Amino acid sequence: MKTFPQSNALQRLPEQFFSKLVKKVQNVKEQHDDVINLGQGNPDQPTPRPIVQTLQEAADNPLYHKYPPFDGYAFLKEAVADYYKREYNVEIDPITEVAVLAGTKTGLVEISQCLLNKGDTALVPDPGYPDYWSGIALTGATMHEMPLRAELGFHPNFAEIEDPTWEKAKLMFLNYPNNPTGAVATPELFEEAIQLGNKHDVCVVHDFAYGSIGFDGQKPLSFLQMPGAKDVGVEMLTLSKTYNMAGWRVGFVVGNHSVIEAVELIQDHYYCSLFGGIQEAAAFALTSDQSSVEQLVGMYEKRRKALVEAARRIGWQVEAPKGSFFAWFPVPVGYTSESFADLLLEEARVVVAPGIGFGKHGEGYIRIGLLSDESLLREAMERIDALHVFSHLVK
Ligand SMILES: Cc1ncc(COP(=O)(O)O)c(C=O)c1O
Repeated sequence: MKTFPQSNALQRLPEQFFSKLVKKVQNVKEQHDDVINLGQGNPDQPTPRPIVQTLQEAADNPLYHKYPPFDGYAFLKEAVADYYKREYNVEIDPITEVAVLAGTKTGLVEISQCLLNKGDTALVPDPGYPDYWSGIALTGATMHEMPLRAELGFHPNFAEIEDPTWEKAKLMFLNYPNNPTGAVATPELFEEAIQLGNKHDVCVVHDFAYGSIGFDGQKPLSFLQMPGAKDVGVEMLTLSKTYNMAGWRVGFVVGNHSVIEAVELIQDHYYCSLFGGIQEAAAFALTSDQSSVEQLVGMYEKRRKALVEAARRIGWQVEAPKGSFFAWFPVPVGYTSESFADLLLEEARVVVAPGIGFGKHGEGYIRIGLLSDESLLREAMERIDALHVFSHLVK
């Protein structure tokens, strides 16, 4: 049998760091049945019943058994515009400023294909969500990492980017509330990004995957709330986290018309939009009573408290995340993020994501998901306590 070589574009794709982690976890799981997995980003709660029921009923609609409009039903785009008006008091034109995506992972890869050529540069947060890298690699563009450091609240220091980089830059990815650090944006950060985007003709892509998850009563800022945001950028909105709909694959890109047009053009060639029943349920989720979202955020906030208190009790000096459902904890002296994650897996059967998997500035940290109940989060900390890696730090 012949083996056909993969295209150059595929060969440029980065290694999927986390598939290596999944294999390691699988090996440990085969020998132990008490593994606590805090390493992944998959919401653990079900989709709210009324959303599921909307899909169940919509599945019977013969209209949805036909091809949907290639760029999605108008009612869904209108629901997105209503959502932005209600949640952020932002006016969105549903016809020209919304594109429907099969989840934002897809859009984050496509947007590079839409806007980058070989030789261009894309600015990415480091640490950051690895799928930004994939789209950039497919186009043959260069990636320039913007370090996110604790002392700047895990915001990039744009002043570090030099003129030759700005000259080649065409795209900048930002993500707040941030995966993996749990940091949130400020108006000043977005204002500076808009000003620089204008100055250097760089499209700003704000990934708002955790937009509904803010703690201490703070509602995370939408990039589109900032004056002039639509002139230079777009926001990626997903239903995966807000409504526990990760398996449904629904997301949107919202904002600058020329970018929406480009995304709809590429999607015209890749897909025929989503099943109509899913579109109806998604529109229902965005426009119906939002009490399930409030309850969900309350649940993550309780888990955050349980985790942070338990970590501090065992002497781990950690900061509580301000948003998202991730905590970003420093590793003890003498370990790398990977060696510490391996120790926790092998000796405590606790899975965490090593920071290096999110970029070189993720070194020195591990990411813990708030995706298990409070008792498991506490038990994970007790098992880590038994390793005595922090005991010398307890006051
Ligand atoms: C920062 C960030 N962006 C985007 C996504 C992709 O979300 P989806 O493809 O489910 O819309 C994720 C998922 O984990 C994420 O963490």
